[in-house]
Amino acid sequence: MPAHRFRNPAPAAPPSVVQIVAGRTWLHGRLESIEIGIDEDGWIRRVAKSLTGAPRRDFGEAVILPSAVDLHVHFREPGGDPRVESVADGTIEAALGGIGLAADMPNTRPPTDRVDRLTERADRARGRAAIDLLLYATPTRPDQIPALGRAAGAFKLFLGPTTGIGSPPDPLELPGLLRAVADTGLPLTVHAEDPEAFPPGPEPADTVDWDRRRPKAAEARAIDRLGSGPARLRLHVAHITDPESIPRLAAQGVSFEATPHHLLLETNPGDGPRRKVNPPLRSPADRAALFRAFREGRIPVLASDHAPHSIAEKDRPFALAPSGVPGVETMLPLLLEEVRRGELDLGVLVRAAMERPARWLGQPMGRIAPGHRAHLIVVDFRDRRTIASRRLHAPCGWTPFEGWPAIFPGTHLLYGVPIVEDSEHVGRAVGRVHRPEFAPGVRPPSS
Ligand code: DOR
Ligand code: ZN
Repeated sequence: MPAHRFRNPAPAAPPSVVQIVAGRTWLHGRLESIEIGIDEDGWIRRVAKSLTGAPRRDFGEAVILPSAVDLHVHFREPGGDPRVESVADGTIEAALGGIGLAADMPNTRPPTDRVDRLTERADRARGRAAIDLLLYATPTRPDQIPALGRAAGAFKLFLGPTTGIGSPPDPLELPGLLRAVADTGLPLTVHAEDPEAFPPGPEPADTVDWDRRRPKAAEARAIDRLGSGPARLRLHVAHITDPESIPRLAAQGVSFEATPHHLLLETNPGDGPRRKVNPPLRSPADRAALFRAFREGRIPVLASDHAPHSIAEKDRPFALAPSGVPGVETMLPLLLEEVRRGELDLGVLVRAAMERPARWLGQPMGRIAPGHRAHLIVVDFRDRRTIASRRLHAPCGWTPFEGWPAIFPGTHLLYGVPIVEDSEHVGRAVGRVHRPEFAPGVRPPSS
């Protein structure tokens, strides 16, 4: 046989840049002009001061950022009322709010505690998701965990009762659950409220009462209980509300998030069920301390905990109304307005809303760099709008941020393809369902 038959085949030509996106971006602590080369598969291939050789789209002085990653949404499928939310609507809201991947929670009806239920959710997303998704599973028994770990994107444990979750795990079972999740290598997000710290009391009538009925002490106790998990567990605590949780979690090397509602809204006597959430809003002093910590970069992740309910449900008496507020469309726009006002550094926001959640979920996005998905948003800080529920896209039809100023991205590209133009949703549903790159049995996408 001729010798050349044994030579390595010539390497396949690398995919070439088929479009260039130009503008300014946040690099090295300041806004700099940049040109981004995107290949035919929708990956960032080159980043330079100046690129040639492909059609260019120039955004001038506007700011190009990586799409955000929201690691906490409730899109309510299956089992939810489609007039309140669906994967199709929720992902369009997310696209318009600058989010390129959302991790969807498992307190579905029925809860996502079996592989066939995960498969059903992935099937429902196919061809209907405007952005990328990652699907959480929630184990109700430790023996379900290994199989779920081969199919899910991440795990969620609810330590306190909440929508769709009647009985949180027995405290004695928790160490076993944490060990089994750690063995899968997948990330675990925990709703950290310990119901043993909920004091009895009269029927709650406003947000001040709700804060008393599910106090900060319940968060501290739940975080203590998480200490029973193995060190190798990839642990993230959802929606912290107590400023004192921050140094404790940071010292333990645990990831955690704050939501826009806990950063921007506070308890107020007489405030009704449209501001009822789990965990509750806290006092003005705690809210201000939480925002200060976020501004100082001491809260690693921003997440929406988008949890819509119908107006009819939310306008029931406080004690009977479900907890949760919609927020996936308004999260980033509200915080971009804080940047415009000089209350927040853009670099802090990019790390909390883009870089860290992407890394946490093992997703090659959240950065404008070669080898990352070309999920990009374009922001014009002069284009300030007022949030109005009739202009938002959530079918539930209300927002706790009515009348707040915000900055919505004008353009959003997913895999280099426009999904938002002139602040309107356009194009096909090109979103995909992903698992972490480090998940067992998952080959990293080519980069
Ligand atoms: O307020 C909340 N709403 N907290 C949760 O933990 C669940 C969520 C929902 O699904 O409605
Ligand atoms: Zn939630």
